[in-house]
Amino acid sequence: MTRTSIAGIQGRQILDSRGRPTVEVDVTLADGSFGRAAVPSGASTGTAEAHELRDGDPLHYAGLGVRKAVQNVNTEIAAALGGCDAGDQRGIDDRLRELDGTAQLKRLGANAVLGTSIAVCRAAAAAARQALHARIAELSGTARIEMPVPMVNILSGGLHAGRGMDVQDFLAIPVRAASIEDAIHLVSRVRNAAAEQCRQLGLPTLLADEGGLSPGYERSTQALELMLKSIEAAGLTPGQDMAIAIDVAATAFKAEDGRYHLAREGRKLDSEGMIDMMEQWVKDYPVVSIEDGLDEEDWEGWKALSSRLAKRVQLVGDDLFTTNGERLGRGMASGVANGVLVKVNQNGTLSGTLDVIAQAKAAGYAPIISARSGETEDPFIADLAVGTAVGQIKIGSLRTSSTVCKYNQLLRIEMETAAPYAGMKALAGGNAS
Ligand code: PGA
Ligand code: ZN
Repeated sequence: MTRTSIAGIQGRQILDSRGRPTVEVDVTLADGSFGRAAVPSGASTGTAEAHELRDGDPLHYAGLGVRKAVQNVNTEIAAALGGCDAGDQRGIDDRLRELDGTAQLKRLGANAVLGTSIAVCRAAAAAARQALHARIAELSGTARIEMPVPMVNILSGGLHAGRGMDVQDFLAIPVRAASIEDAIHLVSRVRNAAAEQCRQLGLPTLLADEGGLSPGYERSTQALELMLKSIEAAGLTPGQDMAIAIDVAATAFKAEDGRYHLAREGRKLDSEGMIDMMEQWVKDYPVVSIEDGLDEEDWEGWKALSSRLAKRVQLVGDDLFTTNGERLGRGMASGVANGVLVKVNQNGTLSGTLDVIAQAKAAGYAPIISARSGETEDPFIADLAVGTAVGQIKIGSLRTSSTVCKYNQLLRIEMETAAPYAGMKALAGGNAS
């Protein structure tokens, strides 16, 4: 036993921002140091994601309970990690993977494994009296930390807003801000202007799952026009001060017939048609980043999309790569995308997530740390984005505590460290020039 040996692990079921059960884990070390982590949950999930273990008991939270995962934390995981050194994050994460024994962490549940992995990291940081971002910088070998450029949800559709629009998210990127504090303020002006526009147009101003607005437009170009107007109404210049990102989340509307069913627009497109549509967006609007423009298994389409647009715009794989090194490797080998969304619960462990970030950076792909549409008050991803210096973070809108707590943590870190704002150079796809 040493000072940083794990003395106790306690899991519990708590609720996420959609009121659904999720896993929280507490880790205590021999010297009394403590770490806690809560696990997020997606709605528009990729098939290759690490497995979220749910009870399936219809009498308990309509099958969404995570009592089995919690039990796995409190029994098998606690027994296996008891006495292990929390300072050895890699060793802990390897042990967790080994214990589970499946590639997608199906047996113990990625929610049980990830909660433990992150709580261990926090406990180790506490024992070393280190800020969490500093601990992560050490684990990832980051020499100079940076404040990430936020990609902020403004308008929502898809599975985050009852399919009110075909495309899932329209986001704002404050490309010319001086600091994260400035960036958040500028986005706040755009978010408020968008709400005002909606009010004036008689469109709903209720919150979607990530705190964005859900105007329910039939056509994506209407949403893009609203984005433009909101940026201008906020006194900013579209493209120069504030750019636009789109998360198409196309996996959610690819149908059995192999075509993309834009139900609200009343159109069915093949991959080529989708690519044409995206190219037009990039021509007509200051769109600098497009995520999941095509389905998670449409590798041929992705190749064509990348050869058409990767030099002009950031193309991000979310459902496509699922924070999985093998899938990212496959994409790199075939020239697919130039950015990767990084979601800790898609991967399942902290070390595995850091590996994917390193793999992306080494190949010149832009990693973007991302929240899920079901979040908790745990601001871990703020420290992760700073500590790995990836340069970009994607969080929900500036509404509700589960989202705002991440922005608040970024504000604290910026004040404490005076780390520089990453700025436009963090984006892939020729945006930097
Ligand atoms: P999810 O959405 O958390 O529901 O997967 C976020 C995203 O698609 O980026
Ligand atoms: Zn996405």
